[in-house]
Amino acid sequence: METPAKNIRQQERVFDVEAIRRDFPILQQQVNGHPLVYLDNAATSQKPNAVIDAISDYYRGYNANVHRGIHTLAEKATAAIENARQSLAGFINSPAPEQVLWTRGTTEAINLVAYSWGRSNLKPGDRVLVPILEHHSSIVPWQMATESTGAEVVPIPVTPGGEIDMMALDELLDERVKMVAVSHISNALGTVNPVAEIVVRAHRVGAKVLIDGAQAVAHTPVDVQALNCDFYAFSGHKMFGPTGIGVLWGRRELLEAMPPWQGGGEMIEQVSFAGTSYQGLPYRFEAGTPDIAGAIGLAAAVDYLQHLDRVAVAAHEADVLEYALAQGAAAFDGLTRFGEADHVAGVFSFLMDGIPPSDVGMLLDQQGIAVRTGHHCAQPIMAQYGIPGTVRASFALYNTRAEVDRLFEGLAKARRMLR
Ligand code: ALA
Repeated sequence: METPAKNIRQQERVFDVEAIRRDFPILQQQVNGHPLVYLDNAATSQKPNAVIDAISDYYRGYNANVHRGIHTLAEKATAAIENARQSLAGFINSPAPEQVLWTRGTTEAINLVAYSWGRSNLKPGDRVLVPILEHHSSIVPWQMATESTGAEVVPIPVTPGGEIDMMALDELLDERVKMVAVSHISNALGTVNPVAEIVVRAHRVGAKVLIDGAQAVAHTPVDVQALNCDFYAFSGHKMFGPTGIGVLWGRRELLEAMPPWQGGGEMIEQVSFAGTSYQGLPYRFEAGTPDIAGAIGLAAAVDYLQHLDRVAVAAHEADVLEYALAQGAAAFDGLTRFGEADHVAGVFSFLMDGIPPSDVGMLLDQQGIAVRTGHHCAQPIMAQYGIPGTVRASFALYNTRAEVDRLFEGLAKARRMLR
């Protein structure tokens, strides 16, 4: 029998990154006189032709509102958005498509749960646990929900290496905890959190678990049934789909018991001034005209990913990240990496010689290299490290070792200029 490592190496040989790069027209350009090196994928990924064409085809060929018309274009658009929901359900192994709710993105998905589930399930004395390394969108909605219910948000400690302190989590888990809100992969550090294990431990005390999958879906296959989580949220634009569309997946019995959070068209069954009744899943949570083009574009992104060998993709991404981390460790005495978890994906977060990250970012941009600098909407973990922010290079399947070399050449040049 072949070892998994050997399998990965064999599949790696068939992964043609140059062919993948040709699918992404934006990567073919020069920025500030240099070939673009796009290393800001944790903020948003680029879009392949298949996604751009699917959106364009919808607007050129069958733009119409959905679930409202009996004319041909309306029926085509309705079929397309419901087929898209089916695709997304398959993508995360949802037991049923109606457990896939369209949202504007991860942030709106988390807000939906915090507002609807939170306000109807939290009471004074209850606790919501949130690891210190979370994105603001996984912290603030719970602060808002707990402020209005008398519950409290309690931070889960994170180790200096940037991993959730699982012993501290165990100490915090008791019957007061009603929700654990955790990212699958940290946007600021790249830590891959042990979410399946967190679900097991949280469920032992009866708590629900919401996983923020924004940084995970482009890097790793997600199976909500295998994770056994209660909610899973993600955005289209970080997985090669368009902005403005995302998904909240939820356990059926939880979604069915939750009150609607926005009122309007689409989510009603019957309206009168004497009282209104609501639709069932998924429409009770989808007030107003949905982002039809976004859903169609996102389904095209799913299709694009599913036609790739995802084991080979993961092996390629791991190779590029490991190469970057090795270069980073060897490059400069003054380069400090933040987040050194055993299991990381997609992100290399660092500071150089005490140089402000924004200065490094601007000098890289002059060389055609796009990175993000700052606190990455994760101020509590930055505060733990005692820093205002980092330089973050974040990778996607189309990045290469040659681009990592360009990053380090750019950093060397920036360092010469700034010291
Ligand atoms: N959450 C996005 C990031 O990490 C915007 O950059």
